[in-house]
Order: sequence, then C-alpha cells, then structure tokens
Amino acid sequence: MDKLPAHITIIMDGNGRWAKQRGMERLFGHRAGTDSVRECCEYAAQIGVRYLSLFAFSEENWNRPESEVNGLMQLMAKAVVNEKPTFQKNNIRFRVIGDLTRLEPSLREEIAQAELETAQNTGLTLIVFLSYSGKWDLLQAATRYGAMCMQAAGQGQEQPSLTPELWANLLATAGIPDPDLMIRTSGEQRISNFLLWQCAYTEFYFTDVLWPDFRKGDLAKAILDFQTRKRRFGLTGEQIIEK
Ligand code: FPP
Repeated sequence: MDKLPAHITIIMDGNGRWAKQRGMERLFGHRAGTDSVRECCEYAAQIGVRYLSLFAFSEENWNRPESEVNGLMQLMAKAVVNEKPTFQKNNIRFRVIGDLTRLEPSLREEIAQAELETAQNTGLTLIVFLSYSGKWDLLQAATRYGAMCMQAAGQGQEQPSLTPELWANLLATAGIPDPDLMIRTSGEQRISNFLLWQCAYTEFYFTDVLWPDFRKGDLAKAILDFQTRKRRFGLTGEQIIEK
C-alpha cells in the first residue's frame, strides 16, 4: 500500500469485441462495461487511490455510427444519475473533462449537477474523459496562452513566460497530478490521442482482458505490477536511492 499509484488512468477498450463474441450488438458491451467502471471505482476508492480517470469517449468516437454514439451518450446520462449513490457511499468526487460543448445540454446539466453534489467529497476523485482528445487539450491550452499574451500586450506588459508549470495549468487537467499508471485493456498497445502531455513519465500496463471482463482482481494485478517498476524520471538508479 505504500507504493500505491496516486493517479491511475484507464483506456477502457474491447467492449465491441466482447459483445461480438456473444453475438450481441456493440452497445451490449458498453452496457456491461459500466459494471466494470463501478467495480473498479469502488475498489480504487476503498484501497485509497487518490485519482482514477477513465477514457470513456474520444473526439474521434463522434465519427462512430449515430446509433452507437446516441446509445453511448444515453448510457453516460444514465450512469451519471444512477451512480450518484455509489459516489456518496464511497466519498467519491466526480468530474468530467473534455469538449463538453458537443454534448446535449441535458447531459451537460446532469454532469454539472453530479459534479456539484460530489464536490465536497474527499476520497477518490473519479474523472471521466468525455469528448476528449490529447490534441484538443493541447490546442485549447495554446489558445488560452495566446489570449493571455494578447491581454498582457494590451496592458503593455511582457508576455508570460511559458514554463511547464504554466502549461500544465492551461490544460483541461489543471490541478490533477499526471497519471502514475496507465492501463489499456483488450490487447491494444497505443495511446490513441489520450493524455499526450500528461503521460510523459507514466508507467504503461497492457492486458488482453476485454473491458467488460476487467474487474477489481485485474485492477489489483495492474497495481501490483506497477509496484515492481523502478521509476527513475531520467535520473540514474544511484541518484534515486540517494533521494
Ligand atoms: C471502447 O471499446 C470503449 C468505449 C468507446 C466506450 C467506453 C464506455 C463505457 C464503458 C460506458 C460507460 C462509461 C462510464 C464512464 C459510465 P470499443 O467499442 O472500442 O471496443 P472494440 O475495440 O472491441 O470495438
């Protein structure tokens, strides 16, 4: 428990294949995936993980068939409302990050309501990345920086110096520590335009388990694997021992 990752992020993959294996529609897999979400959240909260983030819907996912997109949005809306008791029972703070301008206003309102109702919770912070992509995040940070520079110029001031700290604060993940561990299910081994800046020193864990089958035992296995890793952040092994 002393080497618990503070922030675990998961690319939940394989819902479609899981459904196909059972001769069912893709949405059946997404629905089953919500059970994995609940179990992993509760487990992470119970063992004391500070942040659990989930890549639920990417910018690219908007290009999926309309029926799947609509079904996924309905599933999200249902989960946001139905899981509130789970959040309160486990002292979970709920947050959603992404380009929410593309969501239905009713879903945006449900999200804002759940964020407000759980804002005082002090246990795990659960972050759902919705309509998110790493490139979108970098571009919106650059746009914000441009606006800061314009404002400074308008007031006759120097442009703010662009440090890694300032940049991190311009990202949609401002205030959230970078992930220590990224898990991707279903055997795929790529980052798929997810947290491009934030994963500079993240440890990656890939498993063949499809997301609807990924349960707390699988999460525990990933954490145990993380605990065997030697993270050096560019330093030598000796320097790390001295630290
Ligand atoms: C990837 O599997 C999964 C998604 C695009 C959606 C994930 C969404 C959920 C698990 C729904 C609930 C989420 C929350 C946060 C309540 P895929 O469709 O790409 O699977 P495939 O690669 O097998 O086709």
